[in-house]
Amino acid sequence: MATPAPRLQAFRASVLHFVDDPALAGAAAVVVHEDGLLVLTDGRVSALGDASALLPGLPPAAELTDYRGRLLMPGFIDCHAHYPQTDVIASAGEQLLSWLERYVFPCEARFADATVAQETAGFFCDELLRNGTTSAQCFATVHPQAVEALFGAAEARGMRMTTGLVLMDRNAPPALCVDAELAHAQGEALIARWHGRGRARYAVTPRFAATSPPRQLALAGRQFAAHPGVHLQSHLAENRGEVAWVAELFPGARSYLDVFDRFGLLGERATYAHCIHIDDADRRRLAATGSAIAFCPTSNLFLGSGLFDIDAARTQGVRVGLATDVGAGTSFSMLRTMSEAYKVGQLGGFALSPWSAFYHATLGAARALRIEDSVGSFAPGCEGDFVVLDPRSTPLLARRIACASDLEERLFALMTLGDDRAVEATWVMGECRYRREAD
Ligand code: GUN
Ligand code: ZN
Repeated sequence: MATPAPRLQAFRASVLHFVDDPALAGAAAVVVHEDGLLVLTDGRVSALGDASALLPGLPPAAELTDYRGRLLMPGFIDCHAHYPQTDVIASAGEQLLSWLERYVFPCEARFADATVAQETAGFFCDELLRNGTTSAQCFATVHPQAVEALFGAAEARGMRMTTGLVLMDRNAPPALCVDAELAHAQGEALIARWHGRGRARYAVTPRFAATSPPRQLALAGRQFAAHPGVHLQSHLAENRGEVAWVAELFPGARSYLDVFDRFGLLGERATYAHCIHIDDADRRRLAATGSAIAFCPTSNLFLGSGLFDIDAARTQGVRVGLATDVGAGTSFSMLRTMSEAYKVGQLGGFALSPWSAFYHATLGAARALRIEDSVGSFAPGCEGDFVVLDPRSTPLLARRIACASDLEERLFALMTLGDDRAVEATWVMGECRYRREAD
């Protein structure tokens, strides 16, 4: 039987992607085609260049989509979010530990019900797509059915999703504490069922050091080491009260990071959210082990946690990806997240460039999660995930962009004034998964 002809798709737009970190490699890190053409073959990137160069050679069977006047870039990657916290986003008045007790734990207990989990996971994935996010690393809850629900929702939409069973066995309501051995066995079953199935990847997920006894952290370290390609995600040094509490719980540790280090929880594909209250020794250890930081600016401002020092992390060689941290984070939009990242930098005396902001939401995030061979750029063979941004999506944005003299200024206006309204379409592996309704 003849093999079917490959599906060829071409998209004409202003195309932007990164091939390196602009803070380190400068202008050579950015590729821009003002009138560009992105070509996908069977959902993967096969060519990128100027439209004038590529259009004449495009076979007649190719499906051509015209996005001229819009900016097309790799789909955003959210390095850290909590899908079960969708319904407690914007819960007022507390800092981390009391916010968890008052809002988060009661909400997460509801995910014992698979119907709640499935409905929420579907809404969450749709909201990511509406905001141009095509890949994410997310927390579920302690319930295996909640992990199943998110993997299932992402698979139905073709999205790249990393998630795992949240591990908690102390300092939480009884309904959310699961015996370490049982949770480990549940995790093994989920890894066997989901890790490497399509675009699903499993992450060993100890919530934070305060909710896991040493035995559970040791089992987590064993699970992380036992399964090649499995990820690890947790929280680290977000809030001063939390840091002091962890020091009491683990009196022998040099630092909060050292607690995780002792249990084998650092390494490539390990991501720690926040890392606000860390020191240079911690940064050196994160860099040496290849562990990454998820920078969550809207969350850090909302919970009053502190100002993450992105410059110190980067200059000391730590991989950093941007993240919403929904529901402590206040927006699903990576554009809103970039804007708040800029403001956090300003309060710390550092001006984040728009190049860096977009890098940390695309290739930088992919590098943090170690998925840069698959997504985050338009390198040949990468999965065809992209977002189409409309620089005229609101009257104010259109007016400001009309005054911009170059792309850098346009990008800065887009990240400062843009939100979900700027997302005209989101494509996942060559399939349109979100299209903004016509005005
Ligand atoms: N630390 C432990 N759990 C959480 C959580 O759910 N959200 C945030 N922001 N920090 C945490
Ligand atoms: Zn979080």
